[in-house]
Amino acid sequence: MSGNYFDNKIQHLDVELQGLLDLPMVEKIICHNATEYNFRINKPQRLNVTSQEKAYNNSNEINIGYGVTYNPTKSPHILISGGTGSGKSMFMSFLLIEFLKQKSTTYLCDPKNSDLGSLSNYFGDKYVATTPNNIARVIRLAVDEMKSRYDYMNENFIYGSNFETHGFKPVWILFDEIGAFQAYGTDKKSKEIINETMDRIKQIILLGRQAGCFILITGQQINANNLSTELRDNFSLRVSLGFNSSEGLRMMFGSATPDVTIPIEVKGAGLLYLHGNGKEQAHYYESPYIDSEQFNFIEELKKYIPEQSRE
Ligand SMILES: Nc1ncnc2c1ncn2[C@@H]1O[C@H](COP(=O)(O)OP(=O)(O)OP(=O)(O)O)[C@@H](O)[C@H]1O
Ligand SMILES: [Mg+2]
Repeated sequence: MSGNYFDNKIQHLDVELQGLLDLPMVEKIICHNATEYNFRINKPQRLNVTSQEKAYNNSNEINIGYGVTYNPTKSPHILISGGTGSGKSMFMSFLLIEFLKQKSTTYLCDPKNSDLGSLSNYFGDKYVATTPNNIARVIRLAVDEMKSRYDYMNENFIYGSNFETHGFKPVWILFDEIGAFQAYGTDKKSKEIINETMDRIKQIILLGRQAGCFILITGQQINANNLSTELRDNFSLRVSLGFNSSEGLRMMFGSATPDVTIPIEVKGAGLLYLHGNGKEQAHYYESPYIDSEQFNFIEELKKYIPEQSRE
C-alpha cells in the first residue's frame, strides 16, 4: 500500500483471489503497508495414531498433526469445544498419552463419569475424580502442588528460571466437560464448592505456566457464563471441533475468529488457534485420527502410567 486510492481495495480481495486461484483462503493478515493473503497448495497431513514401542518424549514439543506442534511451556493451557460426538474426548485421550510420554503428572476430572472416569483403575483414586467433592479435592491438590513449587523456586531463586530449571516435570489437569461440573451447583452448599473450585482453576490458568502446572478443559459449549473472556484468552491453544455457530466461534476465538467460513465435514476436524504461532486467526485443523481397531488406548496408556499413580 502506498497511500493512494486503491489501498482500501487491497484489503478486500478475498473473494476475487479465491476465485482466481480456485483455492480456499487460509488466512488474511492486514499489516500497515500490505495485506497478505495466504493459500495452501499442499494439504497438511492428519496424524494417524498407531501403536508404538514404548518411548518417552524428552522434548517439550508434541506433534498434534496437520502441521501443528504444541509446546505447553510456550503456549500453556488448552481449551477444546464442540458438540456431542465431535471428538473432544478422543483428542483429549490422545493428549493424555502424549503428556504421560513427557513424564507429566496427570489429574483427571470427569464429572460425566465416562471415558476419563473409567481410568481410575489405572491411575488410582488420588488422581481421578468424578464427583463434585472429589473434583474439588483434585483441583486443590494441583493448586497446592503449584504453590509448593513456587515456594521452592523462590527459596532456590534463579533469575529467569522456570519449573524445568528446578527439575520439575509438568502437571496436567484434564477436565472433561466443565459445563457438567458447573451444572451441579443447584443448592447453596454445592454452589460454594463449584465457585471455590472455579477460583482455583483460575489461579492455575493465570499462574501455572512458570510452575509447570497446566490445564486442559473441554466443553460442549463455551460461553461467558462458564468461562470469562479474560480467562479464555489465557488458553494459548484453543480448538473448536465439528460445526460451531458463528456465535460459538466468537466465544472461543474472539478477535481471532476467521472472516471466512470453513466447512467442517470430517470427524474430529475443526478450527485451531495457537497463540504465538504467527497466525492471527484460527485455521482449519484435523485432530489426530485414532482407529480403535489398530490402536488400543488402554494398552498404550499402560505403557506410561507411572508406578506411584497406583498407590
Ligand atoms: N480423532 C478421531 N479419530 C477417529 N474417530 C473419531 C475421532 N474423533 C471422534 N471420532 C469418532 O466420534 C466418536 C465420538 O467422539 P468423542 O467421544 O470424542 O466425542 P465428544 O466430543 O467427547 O462427545 P461428548 O460431548 O458427547 O462427550 C468416537 O467414538 C469416534 O468414533
Ligand atoms: Mg466426551
